[in-house]
Amino acid sequence: MKVLTSGHFNKKSKADVIIIPFWQGKIAEMAAAFEEYEALVQAPIKAKDFAGKLGEMNVVYTTNSAQKRLMLLGLGEENKTDIEQIRRALSFGVKKCNQSRWTSCQFILPKMTNHSILDVARAAVESISLSNYFFTLKNEGEKTSQLESIVLVGVDNEASQVVQRALHISSGVQMARDLVNGNADDINPQTVSEKALKLAKEHPKLKVTVFDKKRIEKEKLDLLLAVSRGSFRDPSMVILEYKGAPKVKDCTLVVGKGVTYDTGGLNLKPTGKMETMKADMAGAATVLGLFKSCALLGIKANLIGIVPLTENAIDGKSYKPGDVYSSYSGKTVEIVNTDAEGRLVLADVIAYGEAHYKPNRIIDLATLTGAIGIAIGELRTGLFSNHPGLVEILQKAGEASGEKVWSFPMDEEYGKGLNSQIADIRNATTDRMAGSIVGAKFIEAFIKPETPWAHLDIAFTSYLEKPKYYHPTLGTGVGVRLLTEALELLHG
Ligand code: BES
Ligand code: ZN
Ligand code: ZN
Repeated sequence: MKVLTSGHFNKKSKADVIIIPFWQGKIAEMAAAFEEYEALVQAPIKAKDFAGKLGEMNVVYTTNSAQKRLMLLGLGEENKTDIEQIRRALSFGVKKCNQSRWTSCQFILPKMTNHSILDVARAAVESISLSNYFFTLKNEGEKTSQLESIVLVGVDNEASQVVQRALHISSGVQMARDLVNGNADDINPQTVSEKALKLAKEHPKLKVTVFDKKRIEKEKLDLLLAVSRGSFRDPSMVILEYKGAPKVKDCTLVVGKGVTYDTGGLNLKPTGKMETMKADMAGAATVLGLFKSCALLGIKANLIGIVPLTENAIDGKSYKPGDVYSSYSGKTVEIVNTDAEGRLVLADVIAYGEAHYKPNRIIDLATLTGAIGIAIGELRTGLFSNHPGLVEILQKAGEASGEKVWSFPMDEEYGKGLNSQIADIRNATTDRMAGSIVGAKFIEAFIKPETPWAHLDIAFTSYLEKPKYYHPTLGTGVGVRLLTEALELLHG
């Protein structure tokens, strides 16, 4: 997909469709301002066929062979001046282009009172590139066309950096989405590791190391090994390194849960709860996508990524509720529920990462709990942290990127239910109270209290029940936009 800019609208430049956006309540004056095709654009407005509601569309035809069609696109009310509205509105336009097999478009950038035209341009590119994504495992003639060339009208070369940046970030998001949307049999510990190695080949700034089962045994990542026991596939662990600021010592460790299929283990999930569990590696997918974006952007930060990869399957060899397993940290863990496996693999690799890389901060992403959906639904990612400064950065990054977070309390008492009679800690409580916080408390127990840490529970933001706005498939790649933004805020 190619994105160009043009300071002014030109009636001679070719495009399958010109998309003209309208704020609801301002449609008549906006139509008047668009002199080039004023009469044509006024027609559906006068006929009261178009009011400018969010996502409303109306196509009119010109007699100009270079530009056959104009699409009036509703942006909704301008007083809700969240830039997210531009992304959402434009997603309808892109979908219509793809369904109609129009491959080139021009988008007239709308003005906003609270945002610069560059902000609007950025949101437009994000929306177009994220909406213009297609993934299907069907092979019949279902393939729709995709937009190939886009011209943003209203900005010139000054927007080229903003455009490039949005495209680089989207390309990381698409990688994460592909991994989440793929079949669990295709996206397994070994193939994800191979994809990480391939990523490093394509981006010389990235270094990738893969630990196989033998190495994982040697390093005593015993919780990762315990979870993997029920699967015929070996576990794997991927370490990614990106040094964007080689002269600086500062380093961020990013960890992503990579359970490539979660049956629940011996505490088997019931029908209705297992069907989306190929997406239980979304945290890992996001880490890979994030490193891709950071390498493309040349972000000035030092990053270590660690991704534990395993299936949580069921077998005679499965790890067992009631048994005690040791961990990399030395702490022993009583397994109360084999379905609380994400916190186990995270605890092991976070402790490993902290010991080996001494990071200045740790951020983990995980599809950790069903409870997070009950608490806040699929609109925001749950944020759990031991450090108010990190919370503030992630909140700001959430607002700016459109991937919003919500910060939860982390009082010490929430961890009390994890006390065990027979081990140092147990992996779940016996009731369902504050399930997402309890999960975060378990992870926290494996981190030095002085290390700033944030846990992002993406269980309901990484994989949607139905496609929504600029997420045309179920995997969203959530976290890539949030964390590139956060890293830029941290490192200027
Ligand atoms: N992968 C699940 C969490 C999940 C649930 C992700 C729904 C996406 C949608 C996780 O491993 C899990 O099963 N967690 C348990 C924890 C419980 C046993 C303490 C849960 O949420 O029920
Ligand atoms: Zn589970
Ligand atoms: Zn899981």
